[in-house]
Amino acid sequence: MSIQTDLQSTIEDMVQKGKGILAADESQPTITKRFKSIGVEPTEENRRAWRSLILTTPHLGDYVSGIILFEETLTQKSDDGTLLPEVAESQGIVPGVKVDKGKIPLVNSPGDLIIQGLDNLGERLKVYKEQGARFAKWREVYPIDTHNPGRLGIEANAEVLARYAAICQSVGIVPIVEPEVLIDGEHTIERCFEVTEAVQHAIYHALHRYSVILEYTILKPSMVVPGKENAPKASPEKVAENTVKQLRRTVPAAVPSINFLSGGQGPEESTANLNAMNANYPNQPWELSFSYGRALQQPALQAWLGKKENVPAAQAALLKRAKLNGAARYGKYTPEMEKE
Ligand code: 13P
Repeated sequence: MSIQTDLQSTIEDMVQKGKGILAADESQPTITKRFKSIGVEPTEENRRAWRSLILTTPHLGDYVSGIILFEETLTQKSDDGTLLPEVAESQGIVPGVKVDKGKIPLVNSPGDLIIQGLDNLGERLKVYKEQGARFAKWREVYPIDTHNPGRLGIEANAEVLARYAAICQSVGIVPIVEPEVLIDGEHTIERCFEVTEAVQHAIYHALHRYSVILEYTILKPSMVVPGKENAPKASPEKVAENTVKQLRRTVPAAVPSINFLSGGQGPEESTANLNAMNANYPNQPWELSFSYGRALQQPALQAWLGKKENVPAAQAALLKRAKLNGAARYGKYTPEMEKE
């Protein structure tokens, strides 16, 4: 297949009505933290068992069209010995991989961060592709403070995301472009709006300079919300209004899908916020969907506790959240559905 055909078919398989993406790509330190919260040892075998549980959940493919994996998972197998990317494909779920290598301070821009991992990215991507990955994810993080993100922070991070996206497309891998404006802090929703708008404006400018084909990209942004320490929380209607307004200012109509991260919002909260966007603002140029990590996995993790006998309960908890977010894709979720 040509590179163009690869990109086209991957986008078609990933962008589907009523479906979204599941992020199961926690780095070793992050998954260690998640396992610690349920008293599970962070061994390679436990990580394999957990991710195999996720991928073998019956009917997951009814609501999930793509899964982001950590590099290690690409070569791990399910309990019956099938490679996990193959398990994903057999469920109708496109396997992808997180390719960024962690954040460091951005020199001469106090408080801003930058992600590493561009060196040899093209070579790494070719290996991941042979192992079954058809798309990639790269996350840049933007803490909000009085002077952050600064001008350099905004421009340097956009440059890195655009270089990553161009390299992905050159080898036939669809890039998920993820700018996460962090929820931490006391800032207002207006301040989050202003920062997110500046961040995305710079990113689309950079993607243009690097000749990235927008039709073969997915944007994974944070929603426009007040900081976590700024009580009370905004209603789903207010989050939807601000988020859609901001996206309409910055994201070209050529982008097929916008898949939000949950970024510290609770499972029900992130479903309700996505639902309000699709219910109140239908017919946008792009799909409004999910690419949740914690908001999909948390209830399942709590049900599992690392025990084999809990696997069916954990899979049921995961499928429930996937299904409710599937309903939110149509604006048809109600909080009463949580009790069903
Ligand atoms: P959360 O939904 O838990 O924020 O994770 C999504 C993700 O992939 C962050 O990079």
